[in-house]
Amino acid sequence: MAKKINKIGVLTSGGDAPGMNAAIRAVVRACDNYGVGCVGIYEGYRGLMEDNMIELGPRSVANTINRGGTFLRSARCLEFIQPEGRVIAHANLIKNNIDALVVIGGDGSFTGALKLNDEFNFPVVGIPGTIDNDINGTDYTIGYDTALNTVVEAIDKIRDTASSHNRLFLVEVMGRDAGDIAISAGIGGGAEEILIPEKKDFSIQRLIESLDHSHETGKTSSIVVVAEGKTGMSIMEMRDYVNEHRPEYDVRVSVLGHMQRGGSPTCFDRVLASKLGVAAVDAIMSNKTNVMVGVSHRNPIYVDLNVALNKNRKLDTELLRVADIVSK
Ligand code: ADP
Ligand code: F6P
Repeated sequence: MAKKINKIGVLTSGGDAPGMNAAIRAVVRACDNYGVGCVGIYEGYRGLMEDNMIELGPRSVANTINRGGTFLRSARCLEFIQPEGRVIAHANLIKNNIDALVVIGGDGSFTGALKLNDEFNFPVVGIPGTIDNDINGTDYTIGYDTALNTVVEAIDKIRDTASSHNRLFLVEVMGRDAGDIAISAGIGGGAEEILIPEKKDFSIQRLIESLDHSHETGKTSSIVVVAEGKTGMSIMEMRDYVNEHRPEYDVRVSVLGHMQRGGSPTCFDRVLASKLGVAAVDAIMSNKTNVMVGVSHRNPIYVDLNVALNKNRKLDTELLRVADIVSK
């Protein structure tokens, strides 16, 4: 028989992403719309283990839609990876009369959610919140669009100084093992080359040939976007190689780092987060569980959490083709 839902818990876990606040806000207000309670759990799974929670109502989430980060805070909680940790977490869910849990995070957080379901038959729904866009089954994750805009803004600024000095800039962007940020921000920022982990044919020789080609065709400065995931060589090794074999280039490295995770979410991320927050509560209220709410062609969809975790997610090959053409 379907479980009666009276109270829903929500947490943010793993790396924070702009738009997480908008997702929490949507979950809280959708709960209110259904007339069920909502509990915010602080610091991801750590808050579950430490019983660190707060009742949330529609007014508790006022003035949050525009804020980056997550007001519930996030954490990487190693104790929760152990089965004993999850026993404690589950006991606290029961103690607080929580009937279902919304987990906003990335693949690690979804793995934890699945385990809660497997071991205790506890209803969970995931919302993809990560700048990396590395979750299978959804066109976009919350935070990706904001990160892209941050990276493109940074590249535009780097280009100003690069072209004033005839310099080559190697710009490292985040994305963990995925090249989504690199490829889209590389195209948007007008990069000459984009190196991503999904393209296994990396060769430093190809990069050199591409730089030579740019030089011959009259380019006086170059931007190469390098994804932080494994591309065959670290960005510092690339710099040293180019310095040694093309001393005429004045090479600089710029690692953008955590600035990519901050800032006020773009309107796209706010709308996406609002849509997915409402869809997550809809799922729970109709007793759909073990799913991630994603987006496909603008519509919310439900994806089995096991499918969302599939590592064989394919990068958009059309983007690769476009990048090759427009960078010449
Ligand atoms: P993300 O969700 O952004 O991928 P992490 O991989 O750091 O971030 O995972 C976030 C949290 O999810 C971890 O700190 C841990 O509490 C939980 N988690 C990750 N992997 C597992 C696992 N295999 N089993 C149980 N919980 C996990
Ligand atoms: O998953 C988001 C992300 O920002 C990745 O792009 C990056 O590899 C990682 O988190 C960095 O993690 P941390 O904040 O723990 O250094």
